[in-house]
Amino acid sequence: MAMRRLCVTILIFSLLQLSLCNPDFTALLAFKSSSDHFNSLSSWSNSTHPCSGSWLGVTCNNGQVTHLVLDRLNLTGSTRALSRLPQLRLLSLNHNRLSSVVNLSSWPNLKHLYLSDNRFSGEFPAGVSSIRRIRRLVLSHNNFSGEIPMNKLTQLRHLLTLRLEENSFTGTLSSNSSSSSIYDFNVSGNNLAGEIPAWLSQFPLSSFARNAKLCGKPLGYSCSNGPTKTSKRKRRVSDALILVIIIFDAVAGVGIIMTVGWCCYRSMSRRRTGVHREMGGSDGAPRERNEMVMFEGCKGFSKVDDLLKASAELLGKGSVGSTYKVVMEGGGVVAVKRVREGLKRREIDGLMKEIGGLRHRNIVSLRAYYFSRDELLLVYDFLPNGSLHSLLHGNRGPGRTPLDWTTRLKLASGAARGLAFLHGCNKSKLTHGHLTSSNIIVDTSGNACIADIGLHHFLPAQSSSSDNAYTPPELAVNHHHAKLSQKADVYSFGVVLLEILTGKMVVGEGETSLAKWVEMRQEEEWTWEVFDFELWRYKEMEQEMKALLQIALLCLAPLPRDRPKMSMMHKMIEDIRMKGGQKDGVVHSPLSSGYSSQSESTPNFTSS
Ligand SMILES: *[C@@H]1O[C@H](CO)[C@@H](O)[C@H](O)[C@H]1NC(C)=O
Ligand SMILES: *[C@@H]1O[C@H](CO)[C@@H](O)[C@H](O)[C@H]1NC(C)=O
Ligand SMILES: *[C@@H]1O[C@H](CO)[C@@H](O)[C@H](O)[C@H]1NC(C)=O
Ligand SMILES: *[C@@H]1O[C@H](CO)[C@@H](O)[C@H](O)[C@H]1NC(C)=O
Ligand SMILES: *[C@@H]1O[C@H](CO)[C@@H](O)[C@H](O)[C@H]1NC(C)=O
Ligand SMILES: *[C@@H]1O[C@H](CO)[C@@H](O)[C@H](O)[C@H]1NC(C)=O
Repeated sequence: MAMRRLCVTILIFSLLQLSLCNPDFTALLAFKSSSDHFNSLSSWSNSTHPCSGSWLGVTCNNGQVTHLVLDRLNLTGSTRALSRLPQLRLLSLNHNRLSSVVNLSSWPNLKHLYLSDNRFSGEFPAGVSSIRRIRRLVLSHNNFSGEIPMNKLTQLRHLLTLRLEENSFTGTLSSNSSSSSIYDFNVSGNNLAGEIPAWLSQFPLSSFARNAKLCGKPLGYSCSNGPTKTSKRKRRVSDALILVIIIFDAVAGVGIIMTVGWCCYRSMSRRRTGVHREMGGSDGAPRERNEMVMFEGCKGFSKVDDLLKASAELLGKGSVGSTYKVVMEGGGVVAVKRVREGLKRREIDGLMKEIGGLRHRNIVSLRAYYFSRDELLLVYDFLPNGSLHSLLHGNRGPGRTPLDWTTRLKLASGAARGLAFLHGCNKSKLTHGHLTSSNIIVDTSGNACIADIGLHHFLPAQSSSSDNAYTPPELAVNHHHAKLSQKADVYSFGVVLLEILTGKMVVGEGETSLAKWVEMRQEEEWTWEVFDFELWRYKEMEQEMKALLQIALLCLAPLPRDRPKMSMMHKMIEDIRMKGGQKDGVVHSPLSSGYSSQSESTPNFTSS
């Protein structure tokens, strides 16, 4: 009995010894005793190891603390004790009442630092040049003062987020460097002065607001004609003059409304007659070869006049042409696309015959086409649920219905199957040529259907930046029409997958393309926050999201030959969906079967 007690004592003692030898253990306990006056960290007990998993907010790797997330815990005082955690990758102390920061050079491996909504004051934390791997640096809503070390910050190659809003920083934003990797920038609500440098002008007004002496393009006034002058002039304006201005504004407003109304009326009536004239030749032009060509399954109309008589509603304007919803007299509904550029009769008949012959449940069927000298009308099935683009990006903000993970995966899979069918369906190597999230349309059962196949032939020579964001590197340098291949579609599909995963538009603020944004993070550790925040509540599906991201990265391989075929992509996505039910921790990496050459471009995840 006594023997047994002795053994237990020795065991406990040696466990304590083990823990006490660990410097992270003593650092954390020191922080707890200096800063946790509300005992929020009661789980940090000196009888368990910090890496045992039972310590609130502590994550370890190889027995060392790497992540510390202690938001909203009423912590006060200094962070000094935490400086003894050299392996820290992520430190998040948002929404506490901490007041003193240590020299950042204590954390050479730090990638994410979140210190917002505390009571930190004094100069910008020292040692910022030492955190060379930093990605996200958030000091907002504190009382920091002094200058922002822009020269040092612009030299941090990996910095993506710099948020310093609502502090008391002074000085200017100028720096020796004229660019940086920063993607998310906010200095609003400080006391900054001077001109906003050109490289920061890509950020919106709200990134700079409430800095009385700041001037430059985003704020809408130039520095030569600064804000102080304007406000002085305003103050001199008399009440009578203001009244006159109000009356004038009201009159002008009514005038504008009337003018706009009249223009709309005019353009509507012109559109109906205009469409009629161009489509039907009612102006007496000879109707040479103006027959409508119909494909299988074409119902509800038999000649172009049936379309002309029907009522049309503009659905959208794309880079190739405008699309109308046309409701015919018999009640049938079709989508009509009107193309007016780059038309050559010879090409059209051959191309249309191929596209019109495609029938698949993940492809929007082309039912007919009509060609006159200067325009092409394409008649498709009308699908009422809009595009993937509108589901992902439409109505962001209050009142939006989030797009859940299962639906996203289903849409990704459907689009992959449609493309795989297109690529495999005959020997002529059909390509889509212009895949974007806007031409993946959702049918009544929630299936993704590929639209606008082959219409890249009619793209204007000057394409928009959002179109370019889907263009693979091998085509970006050459002319848009050069060397189109199925592998180019695979690349565009990869960009669509990134959109599905991140919820970001393909061209962000400052014209950084989504693929570029991801490329910038290739060699880095990935965290949960790359995914769309609407997905954050499906944390248990994280493995599936990572697997889909890996698939996207395969599609985005810089060399076309490294990108797998669409049929393979579809199989991989289906694989994720099949295994979706399993919750036994299986990591289903699509890389495990013969794609080892890609492994260097595979992100390394850290969960946070
Ligand atoms: C462990 O913590 C308790 C109070 O929480 C304290 O009384 C005790 O001395 C500590 N033991 C060690 C070994 O630090
Ligand atoms: C923080 O302190 C407030 C009162 O000052 C208390 O109501 C709240 O529960 C505390 N929160 C935590 C996490 O301890
Ligand atoms: C921060 O730490 C580095 C390295 O230890 C040191 O060189 C630097 O002087 C420190 N800065 C301040 C303000 O203490
Ligand atoms: C912020 O810091 C300044 C000095 O830099 C001080 O005068 C001011 O009172 C502080 N504000 C708050 C809210 O602590
Ligand atoms: C920035 O430029 C100034 C003068 O142009 C120079 O004195 C300073 O050392 C430079 N700073 C850095 C970090 O290069
Ligand atoms: C910048 O911060 C302010 C204050 O928190 C916020 O209102 C604004 O939306 C932010 N702007 C950007 C671009 O993050």
